[in-house]
Amino acid sequence: MAVIVPFEGPQTPSIDQLVELVTTDMDRVNAVILSRTGSDVTMIPEVANHLISSGGKRLRPMLTLAMANLTNYTGDGHIKLAAAVEFMHTATLLHDDVVDESEMRRGKKSARMLWGNEASVLVGDFLLGQAFRMMVEVGSLRALDILSAASATIAEGEVAQLAAAKNTATTEDEYLNVIRGKTAELFAAACEVGPAIANRPKAEQSACRSFGMNIGIAFQLIDDVLDYGGKAAKLGKNVGDDFREGKITLPVVLAFRRGNDAERAFWVRALEKGDITDADLDQAIALMSKHRALEDTIQRAHHYGAMAVDALALFAPSPMKSALEQVVAFCLARSH
Ligand code: IPE
Ligand code: IPE
Ligand code: MG
Ligand code: MG
Repeated sequence: MAVIVPFEGPQTPSIDQLVELVTTDMDRVNAVILSRTGSDVTMIPEVANHLISSGGKRLRPMLTLAMANLTNYTGDGHIKLAAAVEFMHTATLLHDDVVDESEMRRGKKSARMLWGNEASVLVGDFLLGQAFRMMVEVGSLRALDILSAASATIAEGEVAQLAAAKNTATTEDEYLNVIRGKTAELFAAACEVGPAIANRPKAEQSACRSFGMNIGIAFQLIDDVLDYGGKAAKLGKNVGDDFREGKITLPVVLAFRRGNDAERAFWVRALEKGDITDADLDQAIALMSKHRALEDTIQRAHHYGAMAVDALALFAPSPMKSALEQVVAFCLARSH
């Protein structure tokens, strides 16, 4: 009798090894996260828990724990710092969905669709405040410096993106600066605080930061590909949001620059005009395909992924190091 083995392709990269290695610490982080959403103002835990309980990969706090472990940190501070990192991320998502007018997040209606924009912004502020309280409790001025700088840089990146919106003349460099700020900086800070509280030499702190920065850039490049080439059911957010709101991401920059006059006229009309039809989105995807814009964006992501892996060269081989390398592969191959 034939046995049917489901085909899963050549070993899909996953974050499972990392999840396994940090599982004990992560349980503690999740307990802290839950306890710090509490407030007598009931709308706060309602909104916060709606988003927090709907999952999320918890990639950034796991990286904080992983880097603390990789650099032999022996204290407790990494738990609260990891929770603070996830709160910063959650706050950013609450704010980002307001700015982007997104209707879906983590497979559910976004908080703004259920409680409104005002509540989303304010609960995001609450979480940011709670994040800073936890950092102060940890008592490392260096960690506070790293994460507070990141907080300002993320906001700066989001504002820079706002300024570039609907502007088809945006260059690849300008786009890279935006994603370094809005996304990669938090990955970098999440990775840097571990060796920082472990008081490791500068070279190790820089290596961890560089890993985070480069994996963060790769992560956002793939996110921007998925907004055109992904599946909403897998992603837990709507596909085509970036196009509908006139966000200039690398796939657009490449397709626009490689297009002829008529194609450029299409991009200018679609991205500058508010209402876009489904046919326009199909046309955008067709132009990206014609000019290999998604493939080349993925290729750029691989370049940053390789830089992330090379940044870890000064650490001896270990299960944690190989788990981190797998996280890079996951970020490049991910569909959610
Ligand atoms: C979403 O990040 C925001 C981006 C930087 C693209 P994630 O994809 O890590 O979100 P969750 O936490 O897993 O939902
Ligand atoms: C993510 O930007 C940046 C954040 C800091 C949240 P996006 O706007 O591309 O993220 P998604 O697609 O909404 O998750
Ligand atoms: Mg968004
Ligand atoms: Mg996106």
